[in-house]
Amino acid sequence: MPLVPPVPGVPRVPQPGVDLAGVDLAGLERLAVAVAVEAGRLIVDERPLHVSAASTKSSPTDVVTVMDTRAEELIHGRLLAARPDDGILGEEGADHRGSSGITWVVDPIDGTVNYLYEIPAYAVSVAAVSGDPRVPGAWQVLAAAVADPPRGRVFHARVGGGARLSTVDGALVSTLGVGVVGDLAGALVGTGFGYTEEKRRAQGQLLLEVLPLVRDIRRIGSAALDLCFVAAGLLDGYYEVGLNPWDLAGGWLVVTEAGGVVTGPGGGGPSDRLTVAGNPTVHAALAAIVDP
Ligand code: IPD
Repeated sequence: MPLVPPVPGVPRVPQPGVDLAGVDLAGLERLAVAVAVEAGRLIVDERPLHVSAASTKSSPTDVVTVMDTRAEELIHGRLLAARPDDGILGEEGADHRGSSGITWVVDPIDGTVNYLYEIPAYAVSVAAVSGDPRVPGAWQVLAAAVADPPRGRVFHARVGGGARLSTVDGALVSTLGVGVVGDLAGALVGTGFGYTEEKRRAQGQLLLEVLPLVRDIRRIGSAALDLCFVAAGLLDGYYEVGLNPWDLAGGWLVVTEAGGVVTGPGGGGPSDRLTVAGNPTVHAALAAIVDP
């Protein structure tokens, strides 16, 4: 039974009031953690000696490795075995519409270029969402996990349950809370760039607006980690134009459950047109520049 039934002809809207009664949020969070951690182990333990791009997507630099595909297959199999009525939307092509009203939005390796170069900044993001993640602004995240395999950690959250950092063996490391920096001039801000020339020109222009006004900029190379770092207070803010649902879904909930704010164009839900995150003060200051 869908949580919020679609109305023919009417686009779905964000559902802050979605009826969560009867939804096992803790169970969704546990499953997200288990699956993200298992996929994280796979991509580390079975990493080939020389990883190469198996194929490319939007441009020659937008690569898919054999491990992106293997990790997505593993995640797909585990989720469907545990919850056969749910849908799945994955970066590497998984697109299965379920009947339960819950869809798993999956990035098997977020930070693929880092993975390719063996730079230890990549993540596995697994998020259970309600609504339709294919329609910008029409979905919300219920529970999520972002595994950080190089550090053996996993960020995780569920709606109303707070955000946490745990070891991959399940021990709590810390409860997450955003930082307290109160002005943009003192803020360390993450951002990222897409893979096409056109996207990068626009991103470069926007960066010219932001860079002079902040403490500094970081380009970590994994949007999921950028968002989780905001949740942990390791970044004060983050913005990016051009993200896909799988890049942002897991980290979005981790930030909001850590007391931060994440918005998209016009202050609505984050989307490919814009994602801005931060502690409430930095978020507002950053949004005033990138979402005027
Ligand atoms: C990318 C990373 C990167 C961001 C790009 C994403 P991928 O995801 O999250 O940090 O700047 O926009 O596409 O391709 O490594 O899964």
